[in-house]
Amino acid sequence: MNAITFLGNSTMMIPSQCILRAFTRISPSKYIRDPAFRSYPSRFSSCVNQNKNPESNRILTPTNAVPFCTDRQSSVTTAQVVSEARSLSASTTCANDPTVGKIHTKNGLNVKPLDLERLKGDEKDEEVINGDDKRVNGDCYEGIKSNESEEEAWRLLRDSVVTYCDSPVGTMAAKDPTDTLPSNYDQVFIRDFVPSALAFLLKGESEIVRNFLLHTLQLQSWEKTVDCYSPGQGLMPASFKVRTLPLEEDKFEEVLDPDFGEAAIGRVAPVDSGLWWIILLRAYGKITGDYSLQERIDVQTGIKMIANLCLADGFDMFPTLLVTDGSCMIDRRMGIHGHPLEIQALFYSALRSSREMLTVNDSSKNIIKTISNRLSALSFHIRENYWVDKNKINEIYRYKTEEYSMDATNKFNIYPEQVSPWLMDWVPESSDCGFLIGNLQPAHMDFRFFTLGNLLSIISSLGTPKQNQAILNLIEEKWDDLVGHMPLKICYPALESSEWHIITGSDPKNTPWSYHNGGSWPTLLWQFTLACIKMGRPELAEKAVTLAEKRLQADRWPEYYDTRNGKFIGKQSRLYQTWTIAGFLTSKQLLQNPEIASSLFWEEDLELLETCVCVLTKAGRKKCSRAAAKSQILI
Ligand code: GLC
Repeated sequence: MNAITFLGNSTMMIPSQCILRAFTRISPSKYIRDPAFRSYPSRFSSCVNQNKNPESNRILTPTNAVPFCTDRQSSVTTAQVVSEARSLSASTTCANDPTVGKIHTKNGLNVKPLDLERLKGDEKDEEVINGDDKRVNGDCYEGIKSNESEEEAWRLLRDSVVTYCDSPVGTMAAKDPTDTLPSNYDQVFIRDFVPSALAFLLKGESEIVRNFLLHTLQLQSWEKTVDCYSPGQGLMPASFKVRTLPLEEDKFEEVLDPDFGEAAIGRVAPVDSGLWWIILLRAYGKITGDYSLQERIDVQTGIKMIANLCLADGFDMFPTLLVTDGSCMIDRRMGIHGHPLEIQALFYSALRSSREMLTVNDSSKNIIKTISNRLSALSFHIRENYWVDKNKINEIYRYKTEEYSMDATNKFNIYPEQVSPWLMDWVPESSDCGFLIGNLQPAHMDFRFFTLGNLLSIISSLGTPKQNQAILNLIEEKWDDLVGHMPLKICYPALESSEWHIITGSDPKNTPWSYHNGGSWPTLLWQFTLACIKMGRPELAEKAVTLAEKRLQADRWPEYYDTRNGKFIGKQSRLYQTWTIAGFLTSKQLLQNPEIASSLFWEEDLELLETCVCVLTKAGRKKCSRAAAKSQILI
């Protein structure tokens, strides 16, 4: 395998003293012969730097790497295929990359027309990039008044930027100068980088996002091993760190060290990473107008690998994606294993993005068809079965159980006792308010309100237009519970007493109304803002942003807040948390330029509603109905 082409396609910004090197178990790399690395033959993407002073970031051996155990022929074969596909695309340095500057629309589906204003911004970017200053300073939106907290936020966001071979590749999760034990918060998390990326893109600074997308793409096909087992090809890491390793004499190299969950607390699977990567790739194209990135063969292969991993046949009975606990933003045990809403909304958004971005040809037409079918089934299933309002809860409360047959009303055999008193008290009277429940499994409905899943459902049009409006109505109606002193609560209500013991495993970080268990997360502001703008209710977002702005800077940009209405800075909350800062900035920019928001959300796709949907009706399940799918738009 030609290692340079394998990695080099993504190296447009790499200075000449950096040599990119990729090595896998099949690479004859000198690092594999080096005893210091023999145990970790496939973890790193690296570049050699001869002059760098390594003291600040020096490590001798990777601390969180897991031992090499077995090899799987199949995965090597896949890696080879992928690397071959990737090596087909153009490879060069930043200044010479023939793909830079070639901005054009694509022939695929649903592509937003080229935005000339944005193109002007990009030309400006390139001028700077081709000079020596790699950081693009252009602000697309002149005349925006930024206040003191915004200015500080921008300073902090720029300060959190991580470079690899002198090019910006991401932002670290938190950068608190007083924190001597940052744990893994000094890493670039894929999900955390999304609001940073949007803030930069909306500011006209696209280089960091492009580099991030391409470097994480290279990490995707890495060999990864958890307890002698290799997770599926296509998995994206939860996070990565740039490490500096010594070579012989005074040379050093920088390496990208990914964590696929093998070092993460609880060894959680980062299911959401690949989905966020696809969503960000689409946003990059939409905002910059540079569709050439998504058209590259290596990038197309990356999209297909993620889609294939998610669409692979398993034992699933539902079109939703089956995952373990902690596989998304809530990355510890919180009783969200199964089919959690956040993953389904991300899955839906990523499939819609993929359908837009995949180049239609003989090799992609099958996967595009599979994606379209899954999208139809997924939205039908969620709209029908996850939606609750007062009337639906009353219906569940009166359910008959143990119904064996195709025409059961209570398809999932939900025992009415699950409709707990908090829910009956909490659900608003009005049928104009409702929400999508957190999870649905046999005999199990998780009625907790999960904010991110509901907001993403609005943004991606996973919900019907009426449902989307009703979710915002509910947030407004339940403002004190879901926003309180700090937007927004990650989920409502908190697990308490024996539920907390049993469901979290007595997790001291997830005590009631703290962290993932009912804590308030300012980063959720950007998704809320986007959802409000989409539904024509920016004033609601403005109210939330104003509230956050009053406290975030004074409180030193905490990761999360505790208590029932978010009054206290979280017990173990990090300070100077980057996605808090970036979420705030992105919200501000979206509110200042609401028209740009439309490139980040999805409208109802009538074509998807045309697809046949099998309906489980009293008349039997064979019925295939377009009308049923279409009628959902009226729900
Ligand atoms: C916590 C959060 C997770 C986030 C990470 C880094 O683990 O639960 O969502 O990505 O911190 O900020």
